[in-house]
Amino acid sequence: MVNRQFVLASRPVGMPKESDLRMVETPVPALRDGEVLLRALYLSVDPYMRGRMNAAKSYAPSVEIGELMVGGGVARVVESKNLGYEVGDVVNLQMGWQEYAVSNGEGLRKVDPNIAPVSTALGVLGMPGLTAYFGLLEVCGVNAGETVVVSAAAGAVGSVVGQIAKIKGCRAVGIAGGPEKTSYVTEECGFDAALDYKAATDYPAAIKELCPGGVDVYFDNVGGPITDAVLANLNARARIAICGQIAHANDTQPSMGPRMWRHILVARAKVQGFLVFDYAGRYGSALEQLGQWVRSGQIKYHEDIVQGFENMPRALIGLFRGENLGKRIVKI
Ligand SMILES: NC(=O)c1ccc[n+]([C@@H]2O[C@H](COP(=O)([O-])OP(=O)(O)OC[C@H]3O[C@@H](n4cnc5c(N)ncnc54)[C@H](OP(=O)(O)O)[C@@H]3O)[C@@H](O)[C@H]2O)c1
Repeated sequence: MVNRQFVLASRPVGMPKESDLRMVETPVPALRDGEVLLRALYLSVDPYMRGRMNAAKSYAPSVEIGELMVGGGVARVVESKNLGYEVGDVVNLQMGWQEYAVSNGEGLRKVDPNIAPVSTALGVLGMPGLTAYFGLLEVCGVNAGETVVVSAAAGAVGSVVGQIAKIKGCRAVGIAGGPEKTSYVTEECGFDAALDYKAATDYPAAIKELCPGGVDVYFDNVGGPITDAVLANLNARARIAICGQIAHANDTQPSMGPRMWRHILVARAKVQGFLVFDYAGRYGSALEQLGQWVRSGQIKYHEDIVQGFENMPRALIGLFRGENLGKRIVKI
């Protein structure tokens, strides 16, 4: 059997190109005792993967040239020599960009298809949902009646942030690119208001209009001028979670912006960066809560499904062009 894989072919400069990744074919290894053979059903593409393609020091090691691209997947057990797993079980794991993976069971999470479609283990009931949950509830700490603003609001993390804010009795305001995305967050996800930043010219004034009482919590997925504009509208004791800086992911030199710390000082605001892994010990209870909200319809989700393993590079690059609505995954 042949295993198709994507390896890093070259380190991107600026926006990644499809040729920065190369498909290779390798034999599927034979199983040893204690191992399972997994066949990918869905693979995830996520913004963090761009960082792993760089050589620069970060919170996780870079992918080396010629090495398998990292990433999460949902896979089916197709052969088992591990007593904990039967053929047919579906699991979530970090399997990398490949169609088959061998595992000794470490780091596998069984996915129950009765709770929700198994693909959600990569989105609302997986890493992005957990990021929204811990970032909003633990890092920001929200109180009913507060105004919560989230950027990349129609994406995997952002769409869940606004919906949890609503569940907690807050006013949720999203920022997203284009009218389809702003209608999605207000009409489908129940946000109170949304700003189409691609149509706006004066961001600070547009945010002020949508948040006349100011901003108590900002969940930052993007950085750049959108974030500068939100910071100019903070209320006293505002909390800001720095979740992602996708607007800078493809910068080739440090981006220069206005100096915004005066707004933090005046508002006596708190700014905290966080990684979802900081909360790994509490994933179980958070997933249970997210699962209940999904089943009760209090959290809606949209999956942006790209067909075919060979389209992984194109699917990833599209995230930096804002092509996706909701969680982008690749169906294998
Ligand atoms: N801290 C953590 O542990 C953690 C975990 C997961 C994700 N994250 C971060 O959270 C953010 C969202 O991740 P996600 O998986 O939910 O992705 P996503 O929002 O589903 O997809 C990325 C979105 O970013 C927006 N975007 C792309 N380039 C942009 C730019 N130059 N300026 C403004 N917006 C831009 C696009 O939406 P528009 O069309 O609206 O521009 C795009 O659809 C990312 O920054 C990611 O790195 C952090």
